[in-house]
Amino acid sequence: MADDKKDKGLEKGLTSYGDRGFSLFLRKAFIKGAGYTDDALSRPVVGIVNTASAFNPCHGNSAQLIEAVKRGVMLSGGLPVEFPTISIHESFAHPTSMYLRNLMSMDTEEMIRAQPMDAVVLIGGCDKTVPAQLMGAASANVPCVQLVTGSMLTGSHQGVRVGACTDCRRYWGRYRADEIDSDEIARVNDQLVASVGTCSVMGTASTMACVAEALGIALPGSASAPAVTADRIRIAERSGVTAVAIAKSKLTPDKILTAKAFENALRVLLAIGGSTNAVIHTTAIAGRLGIPIDLARLDAMGRETPVLVDLKPSGQHYMEDLHRAGGLPTLLRELKPLLHLDALTVTGRTLGAEIEASGAGFAQDVVRPFSNPIYPQGGIAVLRGNLAPGGALIKQSAADPKLMRHEGRAVVFENAEDLARRVDADELDVKAEDVLVLKNIGPKGAPGMPEAGYLPIPKKLARQGVKDMVRISDGRMSGTAAGTIVLHVTPESAVGGPLAWVQNGDRIRLDVAAREISLLVSDAELAKRELARPVAEPRAHRGYLKLFLDSVTQADKGVDFDFLRK
Ligand code: FES
Repeated sequence: MADDKKDKGLEKGLTSYGDRGFSLFLRKAFIKGAGYTDDALSRPVVGIVNTASAFNPCHGNSAQLIEAVKRGVMLSGGLPVEFPTISIHESFAHPTSMYLRNLMSMDTEEMIRAQPMDAVVLIGGCDKTVPAQLMGAASANVPCVQLVTGSMLTGSHQGVRVGACTDCRRYWGRYRADEIDSDEIARVNDQLVASVGTCSVMGTASTMACVAEALGIALPGSASAPAVTADRIRIAERSGVTAVAIAKSKLTPDKILTAKAFENALRVLLAIGGSTNAVIHTTAIAGRLGIPIDLARLDAMGRETPVLVDLKPSGQHYMEDLHRAGGLPTLLRELKPLLHLDALTVTGRTLGAEIEASGAGFAQDVVRPFSNPIYPQGGIAVLRGNLAPGGALIKQSAADPKLMRHEGRAVVFENAEDLARRVDADELDVKAEDVLVLKNIGPKGAPGMPEAGYLPIPKKLARQGVKDMVRISDGRMSGTAAGTIVLHVTPESAVGGPLAWVQNGDRIRLDVAAREISLLVSDAELAKRELARPVAEPRAHRGYLKLFLDSVTQADKGVDFDFLRK
């Protein structure tokens, strides 16, 4: 056995026994126990991240995808080796999936680094998994391809097409308002998720699929194919082929995930009416490469980037419709004048070359032309003011136009438990024109910044037909949700951000056109309140919670751990 210093294939990253030759000898002996030949073991190794979990139906097609990726790898002369990492599903993660995203990114990074692979195919899909994988892979900087699991199919309730989870919220709102009964809500429950795969609207999973494609780290045309289609399987096979190519060419993520690529991704995020969560995730991925995401720049881009993709929650269609309309390339063709076309993609060709290669397009009604947008500006606007010195976001394309300029009386909930206890109480002093404020659901406050920013309309108002109100918090909301909802207020209340000092009856002004969110209370009064009721930051004594609370950053830094950022 040669004791040379090859740093590829099975000889990469040898286990430390003090003798390289022996380390390789031992490694080969063990893997031969699984029946491999020397020929197979001499090939470029492509790791395949397996995030299958019975707790994660969004990844329910993982087995088929892995089989197809392996086929692609082997057709190209590589050796596929699948390995597991943590899997996170939105509805099966307590207290919230965001609490575990950084843990999954660490798992992904360290397993890519620890095990011998020349390239890796990241198979993810559910909201936090793609960000976690890209964060980890960016830090490990091993050639990688992102392969998303693809969206679920839509279902049908009494002839009405439904899909997770914009329609989950819509029907639940109707149930809360006594518009439908418990039998009907149970029947709807059967239809919302019609197959395995990720949420079928432009929620966070679909948004991150589009962001990954726009970044160039996923194959061109790969974002939109539903999970159960032949197209999705073919994309998996091609991802395997691509992985072998980038293993040979050593096309590492840092060559693809550049400042220009992130600008392209943000353009796409704005034009698809994408999830506000994607701002946090994109900031976190960029942060792993030392690339700052400037909220002022995002907002400036938003003023010149209209929403063109007509998908819920901003529009009317579903992800499978975007796929039939040609997928993301249909949008990229429209956005071409605003994109950095020289950004490199995982194919080794530029984004511009890939857009050219996607052809001329065809008539369809899902991706609008610039001349007829869904919304004249980008889906997300960045707000500032004394309530959010570090910024806050609103998904303006999914908000009520009548509330975009609004002043109202604050109705304050101190935390998620307080909200749950009082929001539906008949004695709650609340009117439709009030502003609902929820504190302590930020990165440290909850902890993990849960998607509780979508505050329910108090029952007594819902019964009167109130559908939307201005709502403000330091938390997040699902990308599938809609409403006049101010999110990610930074700094959060749990670390003493101004949100902590809001009291019932204070006046709050929202002016989206002016990008303003203001608490109409004097600085002197706020200082007095701070002195009277100082904030004690949450702490923990052990375990992951301690690591989390000691290290998590605010929304404007991607809610990543400070020691993981470059
Ligand atoms: Fe997994 Fe929506 S719950 S993508």
